[in-house]
Amino acid sequence: MGTHSGAVLRLSDYRELAAGRLPKPVWDYVDGGSGDERTLQHNAAAFDRYKLRPRVLVDVDKIDTRTTLFGTPLAAPIALAPIAYHRLLHPDGEVATAQGAGAAGALMVVGIFASRTLEDVAAAASGPLWLQLYWLRQRAVLEQLVERAEAAGYEAFVVTLDTPRVGQRLRDVRNEFSLPEGVAAVNIDPAVMAAAQQTTGGRPAIAAPAEASFDRTLTWADLAWLRARTRKPILVKGVLTAEDARLAVEYGVDGIVVSNHGGRQLDNAMAPIDVVEEAVRAVRSGGGSIPVLVDGGFRRGTDVFTALALGARAVFLGRPFLWGLAVDGAKGVEKVLRMAKAELQHTMTLMGTSNLAAIERTAVCP
Ligand code: LAC
Repeated sequence: MGTHSGAVLRLSDYRELAAGRLPKPVWDYVDGGSGDERTLQHNAAAFDRYKLRPRVLVDVDKIDTRTTLFGTPLAAPIALAPIAYHRLLHPDGEVATAQGAGAAGALMVVGIFASRTLEDVAAAASGPLWLQLYWLRQRAVLEQLVERAEAAGYEAFVVTLDTPRVGQRLRDVRNEFSLPEGVAAVNIDPAVMAAAQQTTGGRPAIAAPAEASFDRTLTWADLAWLRARTRKPILVKGVLTAEDARLAVEYGVDGIVVSNHGGRQLDNAMAPIDVVEEAVRAVRSGGGSIPVLVDGGFRRGTDVFTALALGARAVFLGRPFLWGLAVDGAKGVEKVLRMAKAELQHTMTLMGTSNLAAIERTAVCP
């Protein structure tokens, strides 16, 4: 083993470092998936089937990864996925994440279950912020969140649709996982969230408030309620079929996130990378031009490139930035984002594509 054996040379090198720093139940909550974790494994493994078709004798002296989403400029099409309770990973929580994202020029989607206030996160951010929502039964709570987010400068809303109830996360069940003292969803009425702090006989505590407060009667038509309350873009996250991509266009949604919740919801669901192309086609065939974004299993610049070639406008990282946050706070988040962007630039150089518009469907097979 050389002297560099412990060096962080790729995103997944952060994984072990993070695992070593976190209490086992927290690690399991972050790392785990639902059921037999088939989808969790498959999300990353699915990329093995896409092979790249590089072009040569193209001027690749300068590589430009910049893009825009809803008019907002981004340094790269790589953003931070919404994830609950960043204070599980670092005492500064979402404030550190926002600092790291801003330093790297990346978009951050703040979770409705953030463990820092929307306002504190906004004050720490120098890059764009969106807010993720679960559709709570308490619509007054949702309405207040939308108002607060708009006042604090959040630029879009992402409604997660794949969680009418929380997936069966066996690691959390075995660990009787509950939120440690001092970690809470501080943006929501404590009465709505209190159950998350209490272990309830073999049931992971984070599932309890979800069972109690998520509106399982929700259908596409209900999105009109949110549309009437904000002029900001509304995206839906958790779309995994052409059928639902078409409905998203029909119901006037502004963007889609193809996702299976990082393998934490329906086990044996499709890998998001395998759905991107059908979602993009469905949007276009419905006469739409809304952006299709994607998350789930992205670990390499080549993975990001593959999604872009299949028609995604941007990719979200989830667990990798949590690893960075656990290891080195804001700096760790920044390093993860910079590493991902550098890998995308490297891939684009070797692929003969000097900017994102040059990435065509023919760049990957099948
Ligand atoms: C999770 C929920 C809280 O995946 O989004 O843990």
